[in-house]
Amino acid sequence: MKVLVVGGGGREHALCWALAASPLLTRLWCAPGNAGIAELAECVPIGAEDIPALVAFAKAQAVDLVVVGPEAPLTLGLADACAEAGLKCFGPSQAAARLEGSKGFTREVADAAGAPGARWARFADPVAARAYIRAQGAPIVVKADGLAAGKGVVVAATVEEAEAAIADIMESRIHGESGATVLVEECLIGQEISFFALCDGRTALPLGAAQDHKRVGDGDTGPNTGGMGAYSPPPVFTEALRDQVMARIVRPVLAEMARRGSPFRGVLFAGLMLTAEGPKLIEFNVRFGDPECQALMVRLKSDLLAALLAACDGELAGFDLRWDARPSLTVVMAARGYPGAYAKGTEIRGLDRAAAVPGVQVFHAGTARRADGAILANGGRVLGITAMAETLQAARDVAYRAVDAIDWPEGFCRRDIAHRAL
Ligand code: AMP
Ligand code: GLY
Repeated sequence: MKVLVVGGGGREHALCWALAASPLLTRLWCAPGNAGIAELAECVPIGAEDIPALVAFAKAQAVDLVVVGPEAPLTLGLADACAEAGLKCFGPSQAAARLEGSKGFTREVADAAGAPGARWARFADPVAARAYIRAQGAPIVVKADGLAAGKGVVVAATVEEAEAAIADIMESRIHGESGATVLVEECLIGQEISFFALCDGRTALPLGAAQDHKRVGDGDTGPNTGGMGAYSPPPVFTEALRDQVMARIVRPVLAEMARRGSPFRGVLFAGLMLTAEGPKLIEFNVRFGDPECQALMVRLKSDLLAALLAACDGELAGFDLRWDARPSLTVVMAARGYPGAYAKGTEIRGLDRAAAVPGVQVFHAGTARRADGAILANGGRVLGITAMAETLQAARDVAYRAVDAIDWPEGFCRRDIAHRAL
């Protein structure tokens, strides 16, 4: 099987790593990839959002499966363009990707499916939004309706903060047109969990859960990021909770999407809050999480390629996914300054020493290889040091031993990944 992976982050490195282990694989490309991915796949200099070029490349190479990592190409219709060209694509259609692209759409679908979530209301008028906020009181959550690069959400501790968010998002349009409408939501309290389900349009299989660390600093301080680390499985997320989430959220939403004529095929990523009243839906994403994917892939014992093909072919019913019971943990190393401005092109040394630590996988995110072979930082999140061990504490110790083997003065990481579980 010839496979093209789309994307170039740590998630895509982990996907390429798992796909490369498949006995079904004959050739692997990644567009655009990174320096770590280049060890496993042929990197193609096509941007992840260049839909016509991706489709043309896949057709020219007679690719058997296109695997899409990030959400942007999906919301731009890459899966639809592949289908039109007769190419098999793992990832939802543009219509189904609205579960990530529009928060209002997600809430409508979740309500129609009876999935538990926050009380919410949608506003196109800032005056009405402010009146609703004053009537509800704080804490309260204000969200731009559309995609805002993960930055469109304000969890407001006071009514004043929430009103300021309305001014920023709706009136100053700091996130552009995605702030034309906002959602105002009840603030859910509890531990946040990333839950993943593999879907073929009708059937969903649990892919496991992980806990992300969104704030940049130790002790969950500082600004939000794409994710500074993850571990899997989170002990608080019991099998009983997993079954409840499958029964009350994932399966009903899958049925509702099929009923609407836009069946969901791909990875459904449910952001959950484990509240005192049980798990509630915060949001959906239509792809693997990054860095959650890195922590999940080292635990997957089954053939990822076979599983993705079964999802594409509507054949997940009866498919068996096997997992390593041992916990895993990923520490993200980022360029100093991230999530604000940061330098590119600084040299990273000691990656071989880190990769030689038993139980460790070094996944690259924003890296590039210089002509002389040196590995350079080329993004905000740069590496995902991933370890698996008998216990979570041991996985954490092993991961940080590998982190400490890396010589990169211009980088940093959180030192407390999995603090909620340890
Ligand atoms: P989102 O972009 O929807 O993932 O939201 C970003 C973050 O805001 C989430 O990961 C949560 O930590 C937080 N958040 C979003 N909605 C709520 C809510 N209704 N209650 C509490 N926290 C929320
Ligand atoms: N780590 C969170 C995300 O991928 O959206």
